[in-house]
Amino acid sequence: MHITGLKTENFRNLQDGCLLPCQGVNVIYGGNAQGKTNLLEALWLFTGGHSFRGAKDAELPRLSPGGEANEPRASLFLDFFSEGRQQAAALNIENGRRSSVINGVKKKTGTALVGKLRGVIFSPEHLLLIKEGPARRRSFLDGALCQLKPGYAGMLSLFQRALAQRNALLKDMVRYPELSDTLEVWDARFAKLGAEVMAERGAYVKRLAPKVQEIYGGISKGREELFVSYAPAVKAGYEQALLGELARTRRSDVRAGFTTMGPHRDDLDITLNGVSARAYGSQGQQRSAVLALKLAEAEALSTLTGETPVVLLDDVMSELDQSRQDYLLNHLHGRQVFITCCSPETVSLMETGRRFRVEAGRVEAEEV
Ligand SMILES: Nc1ncnc2c1ncn2[C@@H]1O[C@H](COP(=O)(O)OP(=O)(O)O)[C@@H](O)[C@H]1O
Ligand SMILES: [Mg+2]
Repeated sequence: MHITGLKTENFRNLQDGCLLPCQGVNVIYGGNAQGKTNLLEALWLFTGGHSFRGAKDAELPRLSPGGEANEPRASLFLDFFSEGRQQAAALNIENGRRSSVINGVKKKTGTALVGKLRGVIFSPEHLLLIKEGPARRRSFLDGALCQLKPGYAGMLSLFQRALAQRNALLKDMVRYPELSDTLEVWDARFAKLGAEVMAERGAYVKRLAPKVQEIYGGISKGREELFVSYAPAVKAGYEQALLGELARTRRSDVRAGFTTMGPHRDDLDITLNGVSARAYGSQGQQRSAVLALKLAEAEALSTLTGETPVVLLDDVMSELDQSRQDYLLNHLHGRQVFITCCSPETVSLMETGRRFRVEAGRVEAEEV
């Protein structure tokens, strides 16, 4: 799969215009705060996910020069090649809400785009994947699963709603103990939906683990071994096990006023040569580990969907040493890649296809 064109209107600081990328490596360069990441963000939004920098939709339309108000609406148009044919999508962000058009068919939501364009994003923020708490690792799994399984995003949000309802009920139960019958209804729902989420996460990590191991072996030239495994809240037989645990922790949950156990606490265990990468890995090892996780995600998306995802690398080259840069670029051969960086020299050794210079929101193609 690859992108053949992007058009933006009123999006962030980008001047309205078109980007015509090549099928291989596209380098987007320019000074700080010129609009490079904004351009990647515009592409990324077509995967149907949230902004990878955590922005609210209402912040995406262009802000007036004084910063008083945003344009009411931003529009993005994407041409891409997938499933053996040329396709077109549009995304509108109006009054903080998304709507979309896919191959001429209007959809009321932006999530309707999920699964059309698939992508993997790697930015300096992701370097915290190993170091920080489990929430980042859960979203690493959930993000990939949303693109892989058309029903996963919906399943996850139903689970999250059940969790929120159960938590609200737990808070009320301090004053109204008679609500415990209702709690049982929510326990059953929580366990059923939670078990579905866990089954998907577990199956995905099983597919991912051997790829991570192989790629990390390649980066470390066979000297070190990285292994990832799913660390779920309860062991197999998820639904029954969750029900059992909910009953066991009920009292402490009521006291705490929230659900203390469940898939919302899941983690991904990452071990390097048999010990925790988070606790013992050096900074270089942790960087290599994140690189391996991201490349494995791209491979998993390829093998499981039969289409190579588009790879977006935001400012990561300068964070990696020469040998890791080389590994990354060799490994991405044959995929469409968008790389942002401050100076084009960073990527001068690559077989780049097209180069774009971004200045004050103006994107200009350059001859290579
Ligand atoms: N909604 C918006 N409207 C106008 N300008 C914006 C908006 N959001 C961000 N910007 C501007 O975009 C610039 C940052 O762009 P970014 O793509 O992050 O830069 P970089 O080239 O360093 O990656 C900043 O100058 C910021 O003020
Ligand atoms: Mg940037």
